[in-house]
Amino acid sequence: MYDIRQMIRKSKSLSGPFPSFNINEVPESPYELFLEWFGDAVDQGVHEPHAMTLSTTDQNGFPDARVLIIKDVDQDGWYFASSSKSAKGKQMELNPKVALTFYWSLVGRQVRIRGKAFKMKKEMSANDFLNRGMIARAIALLDKQSSVLNDPLEFEEQLTKEIIHLQQEPNTISPSWTLYRVQAKEVEFWQADKDRKHTRLQYTFDRDKWVTNLLWA
Ligand SMILES: Cc1cc2nc3c(=O)[nH]c(=O)nc-3n(C[C@H](O)[C@H](O)[C@H](O)COP(=O)(O)O)c2cc1C
Repeated sequence: MYDIRQMIRKSKSLSGPFPSFNINEVPESPYELFLEWFGDAVDQGVHEPHAMTLSTTDQNGFPDARVLIIKDVDQDGWYFASSSKSAKGKQMELNPKVALTFYWSLVGRQVRIRGKAFKMKKEMSANDFLNRGMIARAIALLDKQSSVLNDPLEFEEQLTKEIIHLQQEPNTISPSWTLYRVQAKEVEFWQADKDRKHTRLQYTFDRDKWVTNLLWA
């Protein structure tokens, strides 16, 4: 029998060693610092550095969150893709205010992004869709993400049909597959310290420029 409390107590967190974070030499925009940190994460061998948590709220203001893959990052924002008919898609339709969270445990770094999600143009979403593998495209074409599955066999049957359809018409595009861009208003970079003297640097967009502040750990 597992003893969950024992296992939790024995699990180490933030033990390092960690890279340094020179707060006196940070770039003007959080986008540039994110690129630096993402590059460090890749160089250090962080597993799935492109996985992040997207947080949304439902029609009752109740928070929801799930892991997604980031597709791109540039000075205009952070990009991810999903079906606009999924639970998250419907939630963002009602309230486009979202949060993205990255945690790279190997380097003790967390990045928190708060902003608004915008749908990208149809052609960009279509391009993202066409770059997906066959099974991923077929599943997206079923377009039932987040609805109740009564029988796993139903999934297998419909997937097989959709794959055959895609083999015959490989340029088929899901009308609801959407590339979203998150335009940030606030981005926080959190660097762990093995002695618990963590560093927090927050960028806030103020009218036409980014302002930085340190935060208490
Ligand atoms: C590592 C990882 C990557 C994922 N990437 C995506 C993704 O890029 N797009 C997506 O729609 N779902 C992705 N998922 C599945 C989502 O976490 C989620 O289950 C799904 O999108 C349904 O979410 P919803 O019910 O909140 O709409 C990923 C899950 C994991 C664990």
